[in-house]
Amino acid sequence: MSIAIECKNLDIGFRNAESDVTIIAGLDLAIETGEFLTILGPSGCGKSTLLRVIADLLGPLKGTISVLGSDPHLARQSRQIGFVFQDATLLPWRNVRDNIELPTRVGGNARKPLPENRTDALISMLGLDGLGERFPHQLSGGQRQRVAIARALIEEPQLLLMDEPFGALDEITRDRLNNELLAIWRRTGTTILFVTHSIMEAVYLGQRVMVMATNPGRVLEIVDLGEIKTADNACSREDPRIISAMAEMRVALEAAS
Ligand SMILES: Nc1ncnc2c1ncn2[C@@H]1O[C@H](COP(=O)(O)OP(=O)(O)OP(=O)(O)O)[C@@H](O)[C@H]1O
Ligand SMILES: [Mg+2]
Repeated sequence: MSIAIECKNLDIGFRNAESDVTIIAGLDLAIETGEFLTILGPSGCGKSTLLRVIADLLGPLKGTISVLGSDPHLARQSRQIGFVFQDATLLPWRNVRDNIELPTRVGGNARKPLPENRTDALISMLGLDGLGERFPHQLSGGQRQRVAIARALIEEPQLLLMDEPFGALDEITRDRLNNELLAIWRRTGTTILFVTHSIMEAVYLGQRVMVMATNPGRVLEIVDLGEIKTADNACSREDPRIISAMAEMRVALEAAS
């Protein structure tokens, strides 16, 4: 089994003129290629910052990190990383279709030409039919978030980083998109790191759930759900073993907040 992301003794934080601010210290983490890992943790523990370091949007303070077998910078350059940010950031002056296709237009050296109808397929997959010509201000918050997800998928990245992508959605839409995302993951074999504040969502989506604590930011435990789920990572939300795994995580999180 190959490793998609490996962090060794990694310090993550921010460089200031006076001193460095460390958010997570000494992180050791290995994520397998094709794994679906969900991340739970109190506000401020460093979840978004960790994704930003993996995506090469922020340099690590110390230690080593490899992403898809190389430096995060190379992984980003080869366009293997899709990122759905915590707040959907669409370009207001571009319509839905152009926002989705944006990654294929920047940089000028697209990895591969866009397959025909790919945008239409994504629009349809994310339930955005008929909205392709609309502008972001003509969409609901949840629709904007779905455009952001389509945009992250347009280049079929090997690694998908998702930072609370469904936080703004109603529960029914969220459940539906959870299932859509699982279907995409099964079809593509993309490695997914998915941050959420919902214990249910973390358990439903993840093969493993990484539970974090704050002050200082750290990994409390990584819960492997392999025994509870089917080989293709399916489970029932009503399964008593799922419910008891959730209860354990809640206790850990309460202690960590
Ligand atoms: N540019 C920055 N300079 C210094 N500290 C920062 C900066 N950006 C974020 N922080 C701090 O880093 C810590 C981690 O922030 P981060 O956004 O990673 O948290 P999070 O786990 O994603 O929280 P949430 O669940 O609220 O999204 C917070 O204490 C935050 O205040
Ligand atoms: Mg965050």
